Amino acid sequence: MTAQIIDGIHVAKYIKSKMTKKIAALRSQNLEPCLATILVGDNVASATYIKNKQRAAVELGLKTKDVRLPSSCPQSELIAIIKSLNEDIRVHGILVQLPLPNHLDPFIITNTINPIKDVDGLTPTNMGLLVGGKGSLKPCTPVGIVELLDHYGINVSGLHVVIINRSQLVGKPLAFLLLEKDATVTICHSKSYNLLKEIKDADLIVTAIGNRDKFTLTGSMIKTGSIIIDVGITRLGGKLAGDVDYSSVAKYASWITPVPGGVGPMTVSMLLNNTLIATSLSKN
Ligand code: GUN
Repeated sequence: MTAQIIDGIHVAKYIKSKMTKKIAALRSQNLEPCLATILVGDNVASATYIKNKQRAAVELGLKTKDVRLPSSCPQSELIAIIKSLNEDIRVHGILVQLPLPNHLDPFIITNTINPIKDVDGLTPTNMGLLVGGKGSLKPCTPVGIVELLDHYGINVSGLHVVIINRSQLVGKPLAFLLLEKDATVTICHSKSYNLLKEIKDADLIVTAIGNRDKFTLTGSMIKTGSIIIDVGITRLGGKLAGDVDYSSVAKYASWITPVPGGVGPMTVSMLLNNTLIATSLSKN
């Protein structure tokens, strides 16, 4: 078996073309979508992610605010900035890039964002709505994965899905989105006893570790015909790589996402789409 490729660049382009129409509709109602991003500190990877998000927003024709703060920024100051963006009617989406420096509490910071501007879908309100199956602003990477599966007609109903990640950004919300689609979901993590057994059993594996020394998925680990979604990003010999040893896994999988060019472009597109959803929500 040679896996078919799930092409995130292609799907992200298709979604962007649909967004162009949505932007025109919003403008006809005098709404000019605006995304504000906040980066605290000088984490190199975070700076790259913010640059990509800002660039994609500008390319799509969205207004942006690019707030940069030193790593010494006190929590009270960051909270005051978020509150002023909450009040600013010209700003529709607010994203605080994670991880934050250690002295800043990500729960308190995220929870300061007005839920209708929470384009990461991370506030307790939006997480609660997602768990209840009623989410509108949902975390970008999980919703991007679901869009990819839908685009290629991959029906997860009844499938045993193994997610190797338990974060707020990926594993937890993705589990609920896939449960909504009738998958049987197992979340694995560093303390799981039977990771290899779970992987071998899985019909669909989502891996988001981002450290190939700790974990690399190889062809002999998976069941023939399983679907592989690779969310991991690491630098390998100056190039970007995922958690998956692509050439060995592609021999056994039925579908596979490449890195780069799989989930990554979808995350950015879903952020822009959430900004449009937030702009619509601002009308009410
Ligand atoms: N850090 C890595 N991915 C993300 C993301 O999707 N949103 C935020 N806010 N921070 C991140």
